[in-house]
Amino acid sequence: MRLVLIGCPGAGKGTQAKVISKHFGLAHISTGDLLRNEIAQKTELGLKITHIMESGKLVSDEIVSELLMKRVKEDDCKNGYILDGYPRNVAQADNLEKTLGNMDKVIYIQVEDGIIIERMSGRRGCPKCGQMYHEKYNPPKKAGICNECGTQLVQRKDDVEETVKHRLEVYHNETSPIIEYYDKKHILYKVNGVGDIDKISAEIIGVLESFNK
Ligand code: AP5
Repeated sequence: MRLVLIGCPGAGKGTQAKVISKHFGLAHISTGDLLRNEIAQKTELGLKITHIMESGKLVSDEIVSELLMKRVKEDDCKNGYILDGYPRNVAQADNLEKTLGNMDKVIYIQVEDGIIIERMSGRRGCPKCGQMYHEKYNPPKKAGICNECGTQLVQRKDDVEETVKHRLEVYHNETSPIIEYYDKKHILYKVNGVGDIDKISAEIIGVLESFNK
């Protein structure tokens, strides 16, 4: 199965992608993580994109598409994958179809902007294994420490309020048109992203299981 997750910043794409990928044995490909990895490794590309990402703007289509094409060729993608954060505009959606063909299903996680600022301010992530937490809605067992690997959790630099507001603007201007793009292809499923995280996962898994029979 090849899936796309769409939703505004903080909608819960990464949280749900981790659960779905484990359940179906799919690779979880987050373009944000691929880019953050370049920054963490201090590669030439990483140095070039640091400022863009910290300001909440989109990195160029060419850079992201190249990283994605390299990633989907890896072994763990043979059984399928979930794209989290790609495509981000219509040009990327066209490029995806041209290079990798049609996706099987696109899950759109709907959350209103008003909820996002609070979600983002409480988000903490593990810099080692990528596990995501929320101080209030999904706290680790021990405050500030990853349940999976015991590493100190960190806050993302683009999760400060002003940058989150800008990311939401970028999302509405550039990313939201792909909702209609996939709706017209009849592969879009909309899920309410507000409420219990496990219930949202169960709904998405239920839809994908019936589709996958
Ligand atoms: P990226 O890393 O993709 O960030 P994003 O799309 O802004 O999404 P987030 O990772 O912030 O949120 P999420 O939806 O995954 O939510 P999460 O599950 O963590 O991109 C970052 C940057 O990289 C971009 O700004 C851009 O510069 C660049 N980039 C990436 N892809 C690109 C592309 N294709 N083209 C160009 N540039 C690109 O959840 C958020 C928090 O809420 C967590 O704390 C979580 O625990 C909590 N939570 C989750 N679900 C719930 C719930 N139901 N109730 C309460 N809390 C919840």
